[in-house]
Amino acid sequence: TRSAASRSLLTVTDLGREGFLEMLDRAAALKEAKRSGRERPALAGRNIALVFQKDSTRTRCAFEVAAYDQGAHVTYLGPSGSHLGREESVADTARVLGSLFDGIEFRGFGQETVEELARHAGVPVWNGLTDEWHPTQMLADVLTMREHQPGEIEAISYCFVGDGRGNVARSLLATGAMLGMDVRIAAPEELSPPEPLVKGAERMAQASGARVLVTDDLATALDGAAFIYTDVWVSMGEADAEWDRRVPLLTPYRVTAEVMAATGRPDTRFLHCLPTVHDTSTELGRRIHQRYGLAGAEVTDEVFTSAASVVFQQAENRLHTIKAVLVAALGA
Ligand code: CP
Ligand code: NVA
Repeated sequence: TRSAASRSLLTVTDLGREGFLEMLDRAAALKEAKRSGRERPALAGRNIALVFQKDSTRTRCAFEVAAYDQGAHVTYLGPSGSHLGREESVADTARVLGSLFDGIEFRGFGQETVEELARHAGVPVWNGLTDEWHPTQMLADVLTMREHQPGEIEAISYCFVGDGRGNVARSLLATGAMLGMDVRIAAPEELSPPEPLVKGAERMAQASGARVLVTDDLATALDGAAFIYTDVWVSMGEADAEWDRRVPLLTPYRVTAEVMAATGRPDTRFLHCLPTVHDTSTELGRRIHQRYGLAGAEVTDEVFTSAASVVFQQAENRLHTIKAVLVAALGA
């Protein structure tokens, strides 16, 4: 049997190009099986721990429904629901959970925590988001892009616009570079992806044939892009005061109808991992409106609700892709 480490998913490059594409095929098959009522549970008798040090809607629910659909059981430990990180070390928690569960999902802050957990758990560990990476999100995102543009993965172009240092931007950069895609990051210099990461992406691109562009020049980055992707301007775990610094930096990079049109293609689609600030219906949205006079932040309501927006398809695909990860790791 394969080692726990080889069945873990800690960072976006863990699966490698072939493994990533195989996982997408597995997810597409599971999606079709569920739709047609022919899903066959492969996880009966498995127990899965879901450990979240930050809140979640999609990731948690996707793991839960994926597990239930496949006959497994889950236990959710939320940000305040266990001793982890306070009374008990990560290593001790890992040893305990590893002795009770067949696999562990973990969402936390620093990447080193999920890696420490994996070192001591003895069972597969799946990263449900850290400050650095969001690997399960990448599977859903590339599946969604492939659904809209079937065929060669290398032919797909996408442009991330906004906070280039966030976990999602970093993950999109590394994923596209690994898979051989046409990936662009448009961000102000102050929020550009860290240099070592860009260098690493360029190295991967040499092997995969990917085209990688990191620039603060929005027009160049958008040219011809089939997908435009953005993320919140301030991520979970970052200081609230960051809004004051980032709003002026990122306002030129908000995804508006003009930005969508600037690709020069009529069929450009809009992606977002969610949650998002696209109007003033949320508490955060109202605060941003009051303080900065912006209705919506990283994307306008017009774009978010347009026919080009495929964000809820993307959210549903979290289920099918996470299910693929669970079945590949623990399936009978
Ligand atoms: N996209 C995503 O990870 O959403 P949640 O924070 O709701 O899990
Ligand atoms: N960058 C965001 C993604 C949420 C899914 C965050 O970390 O808060």
